[in-house]
Amino acid sequence: MTQFRLTQISDTHLGRRLPKLTRNFVSVAEHIDATRPDLVVNTGDIGFDGPSNPEDLDFGRSLHDALPVGCRYLPGNHDIGDNPTQIGPVPTELVSERGRQAFISVFGDDRWRFEAAGWCFIGLNSLVMNSGLVSETEQFDWLAGELANTFGKPVALFLHKPIFLNAPDDAELESSAVRYVPMPARRRLVEMLRGVDLRLVASGHVHQRRDFTFGHTRHVWSPSAGFIISDAKQERIGLKEVGLVEYRFQPNSFEIRHVRAPGQVDVDLSEIWDKELKAAHSPAKAPATI
Ligand SMILES: [Fe+2]
Ligand SMILES: [Fe+2]
Repeated sequence: MTQFRLTQISDTHLGRRLPKLTRNFVSVAEHIDATRPDLVVNTGDIGFDGPSNPEDLDFGRSLHDALPVGCRYLPGNHDIGDNPTQIGPVPTELVSERGRQAFISVFGDDRWRFEAAGWCFIGLNSLVMNSGLVSETEQFDWLAGELANTFGKPVALFLHKPIFLNAPDDAELESSAVRYVPMPARRRLVEMLRGVDLRLVASGHVHQRRDFTFGHTRHVWSPSAGFIISDAKQERIGLKEVGLVEYRFQPNSFEIRHVRAPGQVDVDLSEIWDKELKAAHSPAKAPATI
């Protein structure tokens, strides 16, 4: 295969009780049906609140199963819980092996590697980083083995959380520590990646579209396919819109298209949270601390 077309979607936050987000997913699904990429990758927060509502994961899986192309999945903090960080408050829902296993039972492996069009594609579980869970060590050991076998091929990395804001040694801030891969795991990950030809890091989580280059690596933040978060609740870094990202890989090169599927609507988190969920959830669990 000399060309590989991959569509990244992220932060779908699906739940049967959230029809506005389902409608946005249907618009994305229709676009995928029309464009027929070789693969769809969902970079996490597939369900709205997996740790408290496991049925959100099942609902999310059922919608992805209806897509006309194959999918690969990575977990988000709203699927398996969040990373502990060195500074800042402890997340309301900490990542756990139980949550990870629940994700794996619905979506399959939480890390993966495959090759296509002369590229090496690696997906990582970013939530176990800095967790101290056995699976954090196992994943780093697995990653070391995979990176040792790229044989000079360009590498595209997918994970839920961006590795950093602007540079690997950005200071961790209390207000945004949960937004990025936390220290000191970030330092270890960055060191490991120095040994390969890393061309792309594709993440989600922030619900903002962003595209920048550091060194010779392009960092792409996929927007949420489902909803945006207002400036009152989250600082503006990139573009606040719903959408998706399309990639076309060819040996030694790639192209990126920033896309909104026809029919996708910029639903604000407050529209779904305030009106539909307040009665059923603790406000502290609202996905606003991203
Ligand atoms: Fe999200
Ligand atoms: Fe997230």
